[in-house]
Amino acid sequence: MSSPAGAGSASDSGAGTDSGAGTDSGAGTDSGASLGYVRRLTTSGTFSLDGQDFELENNVWIVGSCGADNDIGSGWTGADGERAEVIIVDAPHSASAIVEAVGDMRVVAIVATHGHNDHINAAVELREAVAAPVFLHPADLPLWREVYGTSAQPDGELEDGMVLSAGGISLTVLHTPGHTPGGCCLYDAQGGVLFSGDTLFKGGPGATGRSWSDFPTIIESIRRRLLVLPAETRVLTGHGESTRIGDEAENLDEWIERGH
Ligand SMILES: [Fe+2]
Repeated sequence: MSSPAGAGSASDSGAGTDSGAGTDSGAGTDSGASLGYVRRLTTSGTFSLDGQDFELENNVWIVGSCGADNDIGSGWTGADGERAEVIIVDAPHSASAIVEAVGDMRVVAIVATHGHNDHINAAVELREAVAAPVFLHPADLPLWREVYGTSAQPDGELEDGMVLSAGGISLTVLHTPGHTPGGCCLYDAQGGVLFSGDTLFKGGPGATGRSWSDFPTIIESIRRRLLVLPAETRVLTGHGESTRIGDEAENLDEWIERGH
């Protein structure tokens, strides 16, 4: 395994800056930004598991009623002039960078796609700053406790099929275990966008070589829950580049053969 999180992890760390955060307003067609309601922020930090540390860059996805032409951090407003509402997908490394990025938008929820420290280590500080609940699948609570002990808890439990909405955008939770027991993806059926966390990357599944992971389980999650989505579905990942369902589906047999 060449990278800690999986096939797409930390492959393009150039977007980060000395401050540990960068933004991508969406030059790439698959960044999601061209949708007008998705923005990517990147933050950099350490992923720790099984006594090993890895430096990497994470994607933070901000999803909701932003104006299409506004830059991140400028304080988006909806078309009707109302204060924008957003969901934040993952809270890695730097609460201050995420707070700056959301500006005066109202944060409806902070969703952790899974409990690895590099996806939740800014969650508690972030929720205090933006007064929004943190959601995590309960199967990942042991991983949450590795970061926070019992001093802080998530506010809500992700459950397969539940729907989270902000600014007219609805995200359906797909429980996709394998990278972790409580790993989840968020699916925007209307827009054809999947926020895949570390379950699916450009180039293959998330890593399963460490504790709490299982390769056959992630393959089944990807096969049964993700590859059944429309081929043109954009896949916005927890690390690295975005992809599309159809571009990944053709490689399933190769991943199974290689075993990661
Ligand atoms: Fe992960």
